[in-house]
Amino acid sequence: LLVALGVFVISFLLGSIPWGVIISKVFYHTDIREHGSGNIGTTNAMRTMGKVGGSAVFVLDFGKGIVSGLIAAAAAAMFGGGMSLSGHVIGYDDFVTVAFLGCVWGHIFSPWLGFKGGKGIAVAVGCLFVTFGWQGACLELAIFAVLVLATKYVSVGSIAAAGACPLFAAYYFLYAAFAPAAWVCTTVAALTVVWAHRGNIERLRAGNERRIGQKGKEA
Ligand code: G3P
Repeated sequence: LLVALGVFVISFLLGSIPWGVIISKVFYHTDIREHGSGNIGTTNAMRTMGKVGGSAVFVLDFGKGIVSGLIAAAAAAMFGGGMSLSGHVIGYDDFVTVAFLGCVWGHIFSPWLGFKGGKGIAVAVGCLFVTFGWQGACLELAIFAVLVLATKYVSVGSIAAAGACPLFAAYYFLYAAFAPAAWVCTTVAALTVVWAHRGNIERLRAGNERRIGQKGKEA
């Protein structure tokens, strides 16, 4: 349990690095939070800094997810095998999903930004590659891509992919393997991502969410 706590703390700290803000300040001499949706993530980075800045933010945020997942996998290899209170053997699934939750929370509630932050999509994609493997992560990406292309709203793809995540997790962690704690961690992380999109949901309802390519400050 102590190791899992360590994995959580390391992932939280990694997740909390606000790459969108850093890149915008260092390379574009502006603060991404003052432009577009005000979000620090890839979508708004593309809007305000263009393809190069946006891709850099994606790669770095995605990297946070991958690195924390790999640290968790290493921890599982070194320290896994212990028993939880319920008699379940703590293993890979538990560690990587603790990292998923830590990294997503670190990104969304970054202490460096007054416990505010991004919406966790790029980070989650990085984590999902480690958690579900490339097949599961690509299925999630397919859901995202189809909905974004169909609606031209990035947020719709993000919310749908996050909403599908507990279902994928149920297959992986309740049906294929018995790791209920891993299901809980994944579900809480995914629901936090949906919650982080509450402003988008309101804008979608009001009909003033930005479509791809649409710029402009918060409506
Ligand atoms: O992943 C973030 C995306 O779903 C929405 O971003 O900037 O339009 O709020 P944004």
